[in-house]
Amino acid sequence: MITFNKSQQLFMLTGKNYTYAMYVNNYGYLRNVYYGEILPSCDNLMYMVDDIPVSFSPQPEEEVGRVFSVNDIPLEYSAYGRGDFRIPSAIIRSTNGSTICDLQYKSHFITKGAVKISGMPCARYGGETLTIVLIDKEKPVEVYLQYVVFDDCDVIVRNVVVKNIGNEPLYLDRIYSFCLDLPFGNFDLIKLQGAPAFERNVERCELSHGISTIQSLRGASSHMLNPFLALVEKVTTEQYGNAYGFNLIYSGSFAMHCERNMSDSVRVTGGIQDNASCIVVEPNDCFETPQATMVYSNEGIGGVSRQYADFIRAHIVCEKYVYKHRPIVVNNWESTYFDFDEEKILNFIKCAGKAKVDVFVMDDGWFGNRNDDTTSLGDWYINRSKLPNGLKTLAKACKEEGIGFGLWFEPEMVSKDSELFKLHPDWALGEPYRKRRKGRNQYVLDFSRKEVVDYVFTKMCDILDNNDICYIKWDMNRYICDAFSQNPLSSQQGDIMHRHILGVYNLAERLTTKYPNVFFEGCAGGGGRFDLGMLYYFPQIWASDLTDAYQRSKIQYGTSLAYPLSSISCHFTNSPNDRTKRLIPSTSRFAMASMGAYGYEFDLTKYSQKDFDEMHQYNEKYKNTERLILEGDLYRLASPFEKNMFCQIVVSKDKKTAYLVGLKCIDEPDYIDDRIRIYGLDDERIYYIDELNVSLSGKYLRTVGLVVRELGDFESFVWHFSAK
Ligand code: DGJ
Repeated sequence: MITFNKSQQLFMLTGKNYTYAMYVNNYGYLRNVYYGEILPSCDNLMYMVDDIPVSFSPQPEEEVGRVFSVNDIPLEYSAYGRGDFRIPSAIIRSTNGSTICDLQYKSHFITKGAVKISGMPCARYGGETLTIVLIDKEKPVEVYLQYVVFDDCDVIVRNVVVKNIGNEPLYLDRIYSFCLDLPFGNFDLIKLQGAPAFERNVERCELSHGISTIQSLRGASSHMLNPFLALVEKVTTEQYGNAYGFNLIYSGSFAMHCERNMSDSVRVTGGIQDNASCIVVEPNDCFETPQATMVYSNEGIGGVSRQYADFIRAHIVCEKYVYKHRPIVVNNWESTYFDFDEEKILNFIKCAGKAKVDVFVMDDGWFGNRNDDTTSLGDWYINRSKLPNGLKTLAKACKEEGIGFGLWFEPEMVSKDSELFKLHPDWALGEPYRKRRKGRNQYVLDFSRKEVVDYVFTKMCDILDNNDICYIKWDMNRYICDAFSQNPLSSQQGDIMHRHILGVYNLAERLTTKYPNVFFEGCAGGGGRFDLGMLYYFPQIWASDLTDAYQRSKIQYGTSLAYPLSSISCHFTNSPNDRTKRLIPSTSRFAMASMGAYGYEFDLTKYSQKDFDEMHQYNEKYKNTERLILEGDLYRLASPFEKNMFCQIVVSKDKKTAYLVGLKCIDEPDYIDDRIRIYGLDDERIYYIDELNVSLSGKYLRTVGLVVRELGDFESFVWHFSAK
């Protein structure tokens, strides 16, 4: 809910569990008053407002004595140059070179519904928007701060629109999506750091003085640092304590900074990464930033995750798919790589039918002359030497087996060795006079150019219109450098990275709109673009190319901090694992894959009837718990980053059923107590645990817990709970 108290000039955003308050102070600045646990309406929020500045802080010229400085108040948004020495959220340059900007309140309005951001993914379905207009009396600019709130979840969504109201261009050297100043700062910073095939490891460290940054300059949100971060109090645990979460609805290069100041207050700000970038806003034009999201929870880190899961399911993922059964897929990548032909695929499809999966997805290698990763990206026609009878034959074979047919694409790329590149070398990003850098032997198409996006769209439509395809895996396998557009109409280059990602969104929007019955899965060399921007188009994302259940326990645990289980695509794969060569029991491989959107990556052609029978059983087991994966609340009970164990439980909203998966990492002597305290259940209810054949109260399970014993390396335990 959004309210405005005119006499106090006080704005309040309130959700089920939070209060967010800001007011316009006597000097015209929009000042944050409070963000945290919900407060009773009888409290005077202004009681503790105290703006006395510290020495050395610049003050308004007309004031006598030390009464006010922008440096020492929690601001809602702050530009560069007027004495706020914290990291600025905006650097707005005029043609005379001045970057000084002083943003003060002008007006505001409240509108029904979540504001739309043109050409970009944004929070949707319901909501209310508060827009506060800030102006600089000396610079022809209006800055609109937009806040979206929803009744059904505690996430606040923010972004910024800059309008040029002058006669000359404005140059945005930086334009972040949000700024939050918290008056206290003894926090730990939690980030999700990683690498290809090692994504989203949880890292918690003290937020030290100065600026801590997470960012990507890679043209994608990247494997390296996810655009999610959390600030938690020192005493905050997984289950208890104050925690703030932040995430961007953006998939390109980003930056988020947390600055702990000398007064121990903290500024969090971020948005589009601005190294070497500049956005030009012509007179009367606007620039809209991507949205940022913030959440507060007093239920620890787990509380932040559950708030995000609810928000993402209700307001990011397409409503048509979000709570629907996710197709159980079998993908041929780990079993064939590029080495397949029609006979092999037809054989595979037959086996997929026997395995009773929902969809067979043919991965990389079906197009152009693609037999390895050196050629053919961009040539989106069938590789006839491999598949002489085309995709129709394969789709037909799938139909006969009663399963759907899915296909891999990598739409944003072009191989040097491709017809497309020969025809349009200028369609790849890069300067014409310099050799481009390649990544996985490929270049990046210049999606800032409409004709390039149109071309790829047409080619993909050709395939989709002429073949019965129900599933697309959309991959992206390199980071972006040489970010230069050879478009003769492109007068500026400073925003190419951003305009490129807008092109990616444009293609995703057009395809998902034109083919509402095709299910899209995101992917980027594993989980290199696992973010809210992509989830807006693709209900689930391939989490990692590392499918070893032990490594996956870390990847999936980390991913679940910021994203719902249903968005995490997980496959049950071979043992020994193709990459790590680790041997893991099938029960554990299933258990880990079942904690997400489930599928397989096996060479089914080597399977016997007994194996297929086993797969049927696994399919059924998964289907029995899928509702919980799609809708439930996740409680993480043991972290593989801290313990020798992974354990998570997902509990139905009514707390009547729950599904728990645990994985022992390395066997230890039995006298080491593996006690799991089970959170998330109803204290007052009695639960029957199927596998243990025991009934215990929710309170007992939370306080006493259960002890797991005699588990060897990588062995798992799976428990189903039902309330009596
Ligand atoms: C990277 C993906 O993560 C894999 O699953 C596979 O699709 C390959 N690309 C294909 O090139």
